[in-house]
Amino acid sequence: MQICRSKQSMRDCVAEWRASGQRVALVPTMGALHRGHLALCRHARDWLNARGGGRLVTSVFVNPTQFGPNEDLATYPRDEEGDLRLLRDIGADAAFLPSVQDIYRPGAQTVVEVTGLSRILTGKLRPGHFRGVTTVVTKLFNIIGPDAAAFGEKDYQQLTVIRQMVADLDMPVQIIGVPTVREADGLAMSSRNLRLTPQDRAAAPILCQALNRAEQMIATGATLPATLQELRRHLATEPRAEICSIDIRDADDLSRITTIRQPVVILLTVRFGTVMLIDQRVACP
Ligand code: PAF
Repeated sequence: MQICRSKQSMRDCVAEWRASGQRVALVPTMGALHRGHLALCRHARDWLNARGGGRLVTSVFVNPTQFGPNEDLATYPRDEEGDLRLLRDIGADAAFLPSVQDIYRPGAQTVVEVTGLSRILTGKLRPGHFRGVTTVVTKLFNIIGPDAAAFGEKDYQQLTVIRQMVADLDMPVQIIGVPTVREADGLAMSSRNLRLTPQDRAAAPILCQALNRAEQMIATGATLPATLQELRRHLATEPRAEICSIDIRDADDLSRITTIRQPVVILLTVRFGTVMLIDQRVACP
């Protein structure tokens, strides 16, 4: 596996592969890799294999511009050695680990923002977050030039925002959405889980349980208000869970709905202590 620590070395590496006509798939991450990230890598590899093979790049970059001033940039988990070991084991062809200074040159003035979708839901709770995500993902696409890139469905709004950006800006990258990977007790895998106290870790599966219940209700014809009420009631049974938001939206474009007639996505944001967890479920009536 090649380790590229600068934009130039990454570009040189991809240029060699391109010269021999190979496809490239990218898995962008912020590191502290877990089985959820490995599933992204596997899906990206499958995408390549279905097209005769190619090269898999995983980027590991804790992107400062997607963190707000009072968020957890300083304490975000980092484990470069562990990340590189996992990436070698899974057979990634290159790891891209640029520095903040290399990615964000002084004096930069340009950002990429999906104006509507970035300002609703999580975008309201975390102003500027998705602008940071779309700007860095655009930069990664420009540096690496992948044919495809994989993103997790767990960050459902992020995936929707990125699909919108790629369509709006005619980016020649196929976006692969990858189903959420869960722990045995249902907790969605996330690097932030490492920061939960043992008590909060034990309480956190309530998100998945609430989603299971809501999905079941929607499948059997429950109304939107009844489902929202049950989600609220269920989450309130766990005193450690501080509800930040509960939403049910159109699964395709995250628009508001008044009745459940088509596939919807249930989106939960719940805080445990200082750790904000998100989870989601697509449900069909
Ligand atoms: O989902 C993430 O880990 C990040 O938001 C991403 C896509 C790597 C951009 O920094």
